[in-house]
Amino acid sequence: KILKGLQVAIDGPASAGKSTVAKQVAKRFGYIYCDTGAMYRSVTLAALNQGIDVHDQAAVAALAQRIKIGFEPGEPEQRVFVDGKEVTAAIRSNEVNANVSAVAAIPAVREEMVAQQRQIAAAGGIVMDGRDIGTTVLPNAQVKIFLVASAHERARRRFEENQRKGIATTTLAELQAAIERRDKLDSERSVSPLTQAQDAIRLDSTHLSIAQVVDEISAIIKKSEAN
Ligand code: DC
Repeated sequence: KILKGLQVAIDGPASAGKSTVAKQVAKRFGYIYCDTGAMYRSVTLAALNQGIDVHDQAAVAALAQRIKIGFEPGEPEQRVFVDGKEVTAAIRSNEVNANVSAVAAIPAVREEMVAQQRQIAAAGGIVMDGRDIGTTVLPNAQVKIFLVASAHERARRRFEENQRKGIATTTLAELQAAIERRDKLDSERSVSPLTQAQDAIRLDSTHLSIAQVVDEISAIIKKSEAN
């Protein structure tokens, strides 16, 4: 049996650097990268665009089953498509940020996304990032990382990123408040709340660079590959 590689699950709170790190780790090992947050964001954007109330659980669940979410490699970000139309930038809007927690809390939406994610990861050779990958989506993943950083540090990184991109409309304090609000919603929801899997390795990136986190995770994967 030829396996394309391991399943690597990277979970953690919003803005901990999961996607940046996961993407670089995938590149290093020649693995596929899958950003599961982008999938919940895609459903949210489609609901907003189609005038579907994000609190109408049945309508959003039907939508989640109806749309086709696709990924393509891209720089600096993985490209995301809904029904063939690129949504890479649109799924990062403030409006999507404000509504995605409600969509991600709908059990039938999660069921559909989890099924799609398991299919994407089935052959191995995958780095998947999200909130529930190690606990629910891939409970047998060989490598599980729980990546955290202080809310202040996560807000600071997001603020710097916004400044680089020329988006200077949100203050550091506002960013930190939004991050703390989303942490709370993600941790306290009843279905698949953000929790560390028992067998996950906790990595605190507050005082680490991206390269240091990538190196650390790479070493963990190599050790696991050797077993
Ligand atoms: O990682 P992100 O900020 O792009 O995630 C967007 C939202 O989706 C966030 O509120 C948490 C939710 N999410 C989730 O519930 N489960 C996942 N596997 C990934 C993201």
